[in-house]
Amino acid sequence: EKGGYDWFMLKEIAEQPRAVADTLLGRLGEAGELVLDEVRLSYEDLRGIDKVFVVACGTAYHAGLIAKYAIEHWTRIPVEVELASEFRYRDPVLDRSTLVVVISQSGETMDTLMALRHAKEQKAQVLAICNANGSTIPRESDAVLYTHAGPEVAVASTKGFLTQVVACYLVGLFLAQVRGVKYADEVAAIVEDLRALPDAVATVLESMEPVRELARSLAGENTLLFLGRHVGYPVALEGALKLKELAYIHAEGFAAGELKHGSIALIDQGTPVVVVVPSPRSRGSVHGKVVSNIQEVRARGARTIVIAEEGDEDVVPYADHLIRVPRTPTLLAPVVTTVPLQVLACEIAATRGLDVDQPRNLAKSVTVE
Ligand code: F6R
Repeated sequence: EKGGYDWFMLKEIAEQPRAVADTLLGRLGEAGELVLDEVRLSYEDLRGIDKVFVVACGTAYHAGLIAKYAIEHWTRIPVEVELASEFRYRDPVLDRSTLVVVISQSGETMDTLMALRHAKEQKAQVLAICNANGSTIPRESDAVLYTHAGPEVAVASTKGFLTQVVACYLVGLFLAQVRGVKYADEVAAIVEDLRALPDAVATVLESMEPVRELARSLAGENTLLFLGRHVGYPVALEGALKLKELAYIHAEGFAAGELKHGSIALIDQGTPVVVVVPSPRSRGSVHGKVVSNIQEVRARGARTIVIAEEGDEDVVPYADHLIRVPRTPTLLAPVVTTVPLQVLACEIAATRGLDVDQPRNLAKSVTVE
């Protein structure tokens, strides 16, 4: 059943181009419009929304963090992202004009389910992004957008995550479309860029041998740091989570801009630091700032592992290891930059002789609070 792979996780990583394509299938119209009739929320209600919450746990929460950047940019609606386990204990401000997007691969995560029930009690509209047909979370939600990743067996989420991110883009673009789009041209262009994602993911997967080799050289480390900025920040968090859960190595993700506010003190001779570099075309010169961060940590002894898009030459002088990903629009970049981090964590865990599919102390779906 592992289709020739040593682990389900490797198989599921390899399936990602297909999973992303299936999640887009039938949902992008010929004229660059979104076709999401399956999302059964009335257009009138969607037009009245003045706030979005995205609520989820673990890896799905990281997808939510990415959603915030995209949805706010495309719709100009404020978006808050919250851990499901914190959400309802905080007395969040919710009413009929709030859209709560809950994200859950399994559809059975108790923390997320309890958050959704709380949102419904407060009369918010709830849209689920889910991979498991007919599971509890979509059943109790007002509407559902299914990811079409197919069954995910490995405990660590990979194709589940990538398709959640894609589904979040669809929700953001759909909201923009329903409400009248500020950046109409940009949205139509993004729809074309979405169509290119499956091939981009496939391209990343073709060049993973150096990442596996690098992983083998990292298997004895005690700690790894992950830096990112803008949508690269949630990618850094996701890379760190994958490493913790699979390899049992301490790992932390940071917003690169926060480094100088304390965490840079962690950098020591040889500390491996993975940096997710934003596209050189991203807004507000974040690219240049991240390049400076790489320079800073390297000057303090870090061994730098840099993920940057093809053609970005600025990073070359400061990268001890350079992992290339295809050129992708800024907001969509997580779909390609996450993949090497999945492979890295998987290979480090395998090198350490660990059970990649069944990490200790973890269950695939967490049905207790
Ligand atoms: C990490 C992982 C978990 C899940 C989290 C939520 O690899 O898989 O962090 O993402 O437990 O699970 P779902 O998406 O099923 O609600």
